[in-house]
Amino acid sequence: MKRIAVLTSGGDSPGMNAAIRAVVRCGIDKGMEVYGISRGYEGLLDGEIRQMDRNSVGDILHRGGTILKTARSERFRTADGVKKGAEMLRTFGIEGLVVIGGDGSMRGARELSQHGVTVMCLPGTIDNDLNYSDFTIGFDTAVNTVLEAITKLRDTSSAHDRTTVIEVMGRHCGDIAMYAGLAGGAEAVLVPEVPVDINEVCRRIIEGSHRGKLHSIIIKAEGTEMTSGELARLIESRTGKETRKVVLGYLQRGGNPTLNDRTLATLTAAKAVELLYADSTSKAVGMSQGAVVAYDLEDALTMPKEFNQNIYDLISILSK
Ligand code: F6P
Repeated sequence: MKRIAVLTSGGDSPGMNAAIRAVVRCGIDKGMEVYGISRGYEGLLDGEIRQMDRNSVGDILHRGGTILKTARSERFRTADGVKKGAEMLRTFGIEGLVVIGGDGSMRGARELSQHGVTVMCLPGTIDNDLNYSDFTIGFDTAVNTVLEAITKLRDTSSAHDRTTVIEVMGRHCGDIAMYAGLAGGAEAVLVPEVPVDINEVCRRIIEGSHRGKLHSIIIKAEGTEMTSGELARLIESRTGKETRKVVLGYLQRGGNPTLNDRTLATLTAAKAVELLYADSTSKAVGMSQGAVVAYDLEDALTMPKEFNQNIYDLISILSK
């Protein structure tokens, strides 16, 4: 393979730049030409494709966001869009493509691969909802951002003897909420995988208050059935404790990537380039139990995500 390209797609995540840097530099090291595609599949359809050199990825390893920009492309969701994307790659003589993004981006990559393009997918999303990799690029940084917020909110919550509902990202996957709750000491964590038990949440707040707790932190993933406003009002009326809500939103998508995210991004990107160089078929590259892994796209997309019930139960035990 002589010419490859890289793009970032879907919601940005900290570590995407580290992955782009590794694709470009490892690709050049193997004697390949490496192209960057701007604005994900949207930019692909518009031919926003330029050659990258080693310097073009200098000074980006530590930055959040993505120098290639990203988009959620409606046009690429259609069969015609995918066909045009594959044609565009052929027009530029690009034989292999590295896609850094979440599950929607991976599905797009699978469609592209059916048009004869070899695609390597890297797990780029803060949500940690890709089943084939233990963690996704950006997840660790996002959870650390949430932990920083919890520390600050705890100060003001305890000063006022309040309950604080913190809403974090994660549409279908509660991992950000769960890991932040585990490491941040939340009283309760609400995730889309488990039906909300409002009685249990209120009971924990009341019992905590009887034991002398000055404040309560409730972490709620955005994908759970109630809005944070509704939840805060319900908790306040049931417990009699003043309750505030904070929606952390896009704060979680920014910031300098942590060691874990830079490492995950760099190792998986290097592996993706190695596979392209070796003329492999399309793969999803991730990490499992400390090792880099590569699965066929179809297998990666159909792997069931196991909800970590042990962590969920442990949070309850620890908050008693
Ligand atoms: O997929 C990452 C994510 O940040 C989700 O947690 C969130 O639900 C979504 O993206 C927000 O997407 P957008 O930036 O398109 O509003």
